[in-house]
Amino acid sequence: MSQQPSVTDRVRNPQMRARLVSAEQAAQVIQPGETVAMSGFTGSGYPKVVPTALADRIKGFHDEGRDFRIQLLTGASTAPELDGALAKVDGIALRVPFQSDPDGRTRINNGSMEFIDAHLSHVGPHTASGFYGPVGTAVIEVAGIREDGSLIPGTSIGNNQTWLDLAEKVVLEVNRWHPLGVEGMHDVYEDLGLPPNRKPIPLTSPSDRIGSPYLHVDPAKVVAVVETDAPDRNSPFSPSDETSKQIATNLVDFLMHEVEHGRLPKQLLPLQSGIGNIANAVLEGLRSTGLRGLTAYTEVIQDGMLYLIRDGIIETASCTGFALSPDASEDFKRDVEFYRQHIIMRPQEISNHPELARRLGVLGMNGMIEADIYGNVNSTHVMGSRMMNGIGGSGDFTRNGYLTAFLSPSVAKGGAISAIVPMVSHVDHTEHDTQIIVTEQGLADLRGLSPKQRAQRVIDACAHPDYRPMLQDYFDRARRDGYAQHTPHLLTEALSWHQRFIDTGTMKPA
Ligand code: COA
Repeated sequence: MSQQPSVTDRVRNPQMRARLVSAEQAAQVIQPGETVAMSGFTGSGYPKVVPTALADRIKGFHDEGRDFRIQLLTGASTAPELDGALAKVDGIALRVPFQSDPDGRTRINNGSMEFIDAHLSHVGPHTASGFYGPVGTAVIEVAGIREDGSLIPGTSIGNNQTWLDLAEKVVLEVNRWHPLGVEGMHDVYEDLGLPPNRKPIPLTSPSDRIGSPYLHVDPAKVVAVVETDAPDRNSPFSPSDETSKQIATNLVDFLMHEVEHGRLPKQLLPLQSGIGNIANAVLEGLRSTGLRGLTAYTEVIQDGMLYLIRDGIIETASCTGFALSPDASEDFKRDVEFYRQHIIMRPQEISNHPELARRLGVLGMNGMIEADIYGNVNSTHVMGSRMMNGIGGSGDFTRNGYLTAFLSPSVAKGGAISAIVPMVSHVDHTEHDTQIIVTEQGLADLRGLSPKQRAQRVIDACAHPDYRPMLQDYFDRARRDGYAQHTPHLLTEALSWHQRFIDTGTMKPA
């Protein structure tokens, strides 16, 4: 008969061991109306059982006609066991920040859940400044608790140290699924302070370590410890399609062109890559360049980046979380000792810090919903109103990176929607911040161009052939009849493509 692992190998502090309870008992500490701050970043390192037990408790209240909703703060998106379970029972009054759960998205868009779409680097310091009110309970997943009570983080750090500092009560989920070999991979810098006492962050390269490998908590605040053994979300990746590969080729060719002309060093600059199949295809595309010794200063490591690390193409990657497929996750766990030499996980305030992105000269690569001819970008709202996921870290990096690119197929929904429009229906990134726009049609390098020059470049390089003549016609008439000629627009027409889609199901005229 196999022997059950002893709790002492993961919960080594006797005081914390005395607080071991079931998930149901732990969920009892959370009260209606509380602000609850949980761990979790892009489906990694989120608590797996207390949120589900809390959802059951909330449902019990609702079945008896009693109110029970919480304000939920996290690092970023989580998983069905957290966002999904709580959204399903209508347990979230307010959600901050980025989330991608389908049930959460439905509630946000039918108006039954409030959502604040904050820059990921802002969430920790804004909560510490009191912008979201007091934090009642923190529910944090960790890989283990050491003898001295310090905490070994798991596969994400996110805002965990901030939540542990701010919360009145702390619930810890100790998850055996995390390999103990992650110990030492983290770098928790706690010395940031708030204005007027902020200090410069002493980090000059993605490989620098400036903090502690552990999270710290006042043991008196820890009201419950729960043991789990459950995997992160780990969604499988579909292989890159032809469109993603073409977008990747366009961007990688451009980067190599910049290297050839001496505008980028041979090891490039630290890469920041969003998640999804296009980002993965770009990382795969870098493989064929023969470049080695690259670095990444990013928020999430997904499959493509993990494999570039494994194959020695990326030397060091700094992040705050993972978004891996089941296969990549197994690879990470199996070779965790190797990855610990090449990956540093930091609090999201540091991984996404605008000053560091500016100073390190990050190369930002993120997906978008749509861009307009002048280079304003919408990353979040379909038809100006329907929230997709949130801005995530794209604003942190785009405003401050050395070179920043937005990537998208030129059309969506089988060609019924053009991703290049006369005017975006919602603005996340302004024309002042956006430098490069890439579709499968081509790449528009907007650096050094005036608004009218940018518009012509975007139409020529990025628009789908079905929409290019329509965009050219709009731009020509705006140049002829617009109110002024710096950024020519026809205001009664500028958003008519979106309205036509809402009315008829396509942006194409009848
Ligand atoms: N209008 C309407 N829907 C659009 C659209 C547009 N212009 N462009 C894309 N979509 C839809 C797609 O049809 C797809 O819908 P589906 O899920 O119903 O199939 C969905 O948006 C996702 O698009 P996809 O082409 O698969 O791209 P993606 O997975 O790369 O996601 C974003 C694109 C913009 C949604 C995603 O990159 C995002 O959430 N970005 C904001 C956060 C961010 O940049 N984080 C970066 C740091 S990690």
